[in-house]
Amino acid sequence: MARIIITKKYLSLAFVLVGLLTSCFAQKPDVKKAFQQAEIQTLQLLKETELAKSAASNKDLVSPRTLESGNLKLVTSKDWTSGFFPGVLWFLYEYYGNTDWREQAKKYSAFIEKEKTNAGTHDMGFKIYCSIGTGYRLIKDAHYKDVIIESARTLSKRFNPKTGVIRSWDHNQDKWKNPVIIDNMMNLELLFEATKLTGDSSFYKIALSHANTTMKNHFRSDYSSYHVIDYDPETGAVLKKNTHQGYSHESAWSRGQAWALYGYTMCYRFTKDPVYLSQAENVAGFILNHPNLPKDLVPYWDFNAPDIPNEPRDASAAAVIASGLYELSGYSKNRKLYLSKANTMLKNLATAYVSKDGVNKGFILGHSTGSKPSNSEVDVPISYADYYYLEALLRSRANK
Ligand code: GLY
Repeated sequence: MARIIITKKYLSLAFVLVGLLTSCFAQKPDVKKAFQQAEIQTLQLLKETELAKSAASNKDLVSPRTLESGNLKLVTSKDWTSGFFPGVLWFLYEYYGNTDWREQAKKYSAFIEKEKTNAGTHDMGFKIYCSIGTGYRLIKDAHYKDVIIESARTLSKRFNPKTGVIRSWDHNQDKWKNPVIIDNMMNLELLFEATKLTGDSSFYKIALSHANTTMKNHFRSDYSSYHVIDYDPETGAVLKKNTHQGYSHESAWSRGQAWALYGYTMCYRFTKDPVYLSQAENVAGFILNHPNLPKDLVPYWDFNAPDIPNEPRDASAAAVIASGLYELSGYSKNRKLYLSKANTMLKNLATAYVSKDGVNKGFILGHSTGSKPSNSEVDVPISYADYYYLEALLRSRANK
């Protein structure tokens, strides 16, 4: 009798343990399956891209960006999104390790290289670091190293010591004198890396100045971020706090919050300055505790969009946030929370937001929103969503 009771006790303990384990793992994305889907899709996107390129009269079109009325939209290397498709190819090489993906990644990265001398934009990091920077991390090609360094030199030309920031845009000069967008935090990775590669601390100093000035001026007391801050180029005074892609000047545009979270986490990686860690944690807190964050953790395009829950989602914001949270979980005392949220986000992207085989011309995810106010790229696949989704999947492997 006593033996039966003890056996029953062990059995129920075993059930509780199995239950606990299943509930932990149930939240994890199936990385293998997700990469299988990504591979099938990307093979199709490669084919579609080659077809579209040969049909186009503009021979400078190099990378797929999105779908427009169901048609593939290619961009030139100048476009801020040009580096994401090569980045996707590098991530497939990183996961599968086969030479076919490596050769495709090299081929498409080469199309972006000439941007290394383009000082007309702040998007150098997105273009060069996501393509050639990712390639350098994986294959340590000496030429890629030179490209990264030259790109960092070019980007540094946009830094103004009087404002302490790198100027983002040159357009809309009737509206803004020296606009800086929160997205610009992402370009600092290129600068930090260039200092590591050269020992020249000037890049690092510019990155610190930009991160600190942005921390001072871009955030509200609840740690949500404005999109555009306009500076007086002579005095550094803040002239305007605006939005461009968000719902309103005072709203929290979702991808902007994602760039902030990812950006300050990355700053902590390079500097180990606890101020950046705490900034990233505070931004994470804003995002994860927001009452308008849906149950599946894939944000609407703006946290304050007026018709929530009948507003489009932005899968790209979720992908950037998930990737940022995986990194942040490695630095923070809130490790478990961030891991569990990143897992849920990624799992939901991998199940409910992925394109079905052969759909979306080969883009991996659907349901991103580029710029709702200008009715551009609403609820569509976009290359940067795919890039950060694969990066998040790869990062999730290190976080068991
Ligand atoms: N960097 C532009 C965007 O996030 O849409």
